[in-house]
Amino acid sequence: MTGAALQGLHTAVLGRRAIYLEETDSTNRYLKEAGESLPHGTLCYTGRQTSGRGRLGRDWTAPDGAALAMSVLLRGAADADWSGLPLVCGIAVAAALDRLAGERAGMPFRIKWPNDIICAGRKMCGILCESSQGETGRFAVAGIGVNLTQMEADFRGAGLPHAGSVRMLTGISLSLGETAAAILNELEALWDLYAREGFASLRGPYEERCITLGREVRLLSPDGGFLAAGRAAGLVEDG
Ligand code: BTN
Repeated sequence: MTGAALQGLHTAVLGRRAIYLEETDSTNRYLKEAGESLPHGTLCYTGRQTSGRGRLGRDWTAPDGAALAMSVLLRGAADADWSGLPLVCGIAVAAALDRLAGERAGMPFRIKWPNDIICAGRKMCGILCESSQGETGRFAVAGIGVNLTQMEADFRGAGLPHAGSVRMLTGISLSLGETAAAILNELEALWDLYAREGFASLRGPYEERCITLGREVRLLSPDGGFLAAGRAAGLVEDG
C-alpha cells in the first residue's frame, strides 16, 4: 500500500479540504477538536492511528500503514437527526470497496447491520460517527477505518480472528488516498440525499447491500445481555 494522494477524487465538496497526518492518535478526535474552524466536507486521514476509537467504547487498532483511518466533517441543519449517518457511511464504504476491488475479484462487500462492512464473512471496516456542538453550530464526524493490507497472521496476532483486509480477501493492494477518495465519491451524493430527505430514501440501497436481512438474529444489549431473537425482515424508516 502506498500513496496518500486522493487519486480519483471527483467530489464537489467532500475532501476538497483534506488534512493528511503521518500519525495521529485518532482522526475522529482530531476533527472533533479542530472542527469548529473547518468547513463542511473536511477530510482528515492517516495510515498510522495510534489510539483509534471504536464502537461501544472499544479501541480500534491497526498496524502501521496497513489500514486507512479517515474522518469526514459534516454540517447540516441545526435540528437534523443524524442517527442514520453510520448506515449511510456503510452504503458508501461497501459501494466504494466493491468498485475498487470486490467486483474485479468476485468478492462482494456487504453490510452487517448496522454498519460493519463484511467480505467473505470477515469484518473489513468499522464506522464510528460522533457529533460535536461548537460555538458555530453542531457538526458530525464520520469516522471510517478500513483494513487494507493486513494478512491473516496480523489479525490472529491481534486477537481478531473474524477480521480481514482488502488484500487478504481480494489480492488487491489499495493505497490510502485512492480508498479515501472512492469512499468520498460515494458518500457525497448519499449525504446530500440523507441531509435533504432523511434515511427513508436510502433504505432501498441499504437493504440491497445488507446481509443481515432474512437471517435469524439475536438482539443483545451493549453489555452482551440477551434481549430478543427473531428473523431480520427489513429496516424501519429511520434505519
Ligand atoms: C468499530 O468499532 O467497529 C468502529 C471503528 C471505527 C474506527 C475509525 S478509524 C477512523 C476513525 N477514527 C477513530 O478514532 N475511529 C474511527
